[in-house]
Amino acid sequence: MFNAFYQRILNSKLQGLIHSLPALLDAWYKDALHGEFHQWQKTLKNLPDAQPSVLELKDKVAFGSADDINQGQQKRLIALLKNFMPWRKGPYELLGVDLNTEWRSDWKWDRLLPHISELKDRTILDVGCGNGYHMWRMLGEGADIVVGADPSQLFLAQFQAIHKYNPSPDIHLLPLGIEQLPKSEAFDTVFSMGVLYHRRSPLDFLAQLKDQLRNGGELVLETIVIDGDQNQVLVPGERYAKMRNVWFIPSCDALVHWLHRVGFSNVKVVDKCVTSLDEQRKTEWMENESLVDFLDPADPTKTIEGYPAPQRAVIIATK
Ligand SMILES: C[S@@+](CC[C@H](N)C(=O)[O-])C[C@H]1O[C@@H](n2cnc3c(N)ncnc32)[C@H](O)[C@@H]1O
Repeated sequence: MFNAFYQRILNSKLQGLIHSLPALLDAWYKDALHGEFHQWQKTLKNLPDAQPSVLELKDKVAFGSADDINQGQQKRLIALLKNFMPWRKGPYELLGVDLNTEWRSDWKWDRLLPHISELKDRTILDVGCGNGYHMWRMLGEGADIVVGADPSQLFLAQFQAIHKYNPSPDIHLLPLGIEQLPKSEAFDTVFSMGVLYHRRSPLDFLAQLKDQLRNGGELVLETIVIDGDQNQVLVPGERYAKMRNVWFIPSCDALVHWLHRVGFSNVKVVDKCVTSLDEQRKTEWMENESLVDFLDPADPTKTIEGYPAPQRAVIIATK
């Protein structure tokens, strides 16, 4: 399943990974297969074949137009893509289908892009990449190769569905958690967006991100933050905004301090904003509860549990 990736990294900056990744990914394939994974692979095989007439990555992710397939094929495409719901990260346009996802992930991209080092010709890792939306935008900025790591098998299947219509050899999603990745010290830029608060040990997590960067490489970190000084960190109770797996929500100053403590330099907070109800919402491609259901109806500045509502910061740092 990952042969194209192994081929691509031979004779590249990532060739060191060829010694350890095949065994890890073989073990994943044998042991960790989700009950529905085989079904999703069958669904992928039934997606209609098409030659997209346009491949847009720069301002949006759009492959092909409605004219590239007939109406029957488009209906089949929509029905099969619905098998991969919930579609959280996007939006995508696929052969005229408007895949309107829960998140306007493009807004996050627009907020951070002006602040980061140019991505042209860079070797990039996106830790917790979801279905790969931002990876396509990285490729659109001229990256040499983009590798994503995300343990969700559904998001891998979503990525495969999109990749079918733009089978670029320069973008790969590995179904592994950051803690499973061998230390590479090879990437020019490491992104990790929306993952830190899911980690029980955030300083170890930051050190693991650092282990993937070459010296002088750039970390782009995005996470939920609270207001407060260097010593303020929220450790919520069982749930935060109805999510069970949220451990640490630092203030920006605390996060800057943590990054210094693990050895990063040039640490800068480049953006901070409250997540709006237009950026994260229910759509026909994600019918579960969304942000509006996670906030206190009487006071949307608070979560339903009474914590500060999600605000997110982007922080850049150098190894
Ligand atoms: C909130 S989503 C963020 C997706 C995307 N990066 C974004 O900003 O839109 C968090 C992602 O982290 C992934 N994740 C959870 N634990 C992880 C781990 N240990 N290593 C890498 N990714 C992880 C989840 O599967 C999920 O796709």
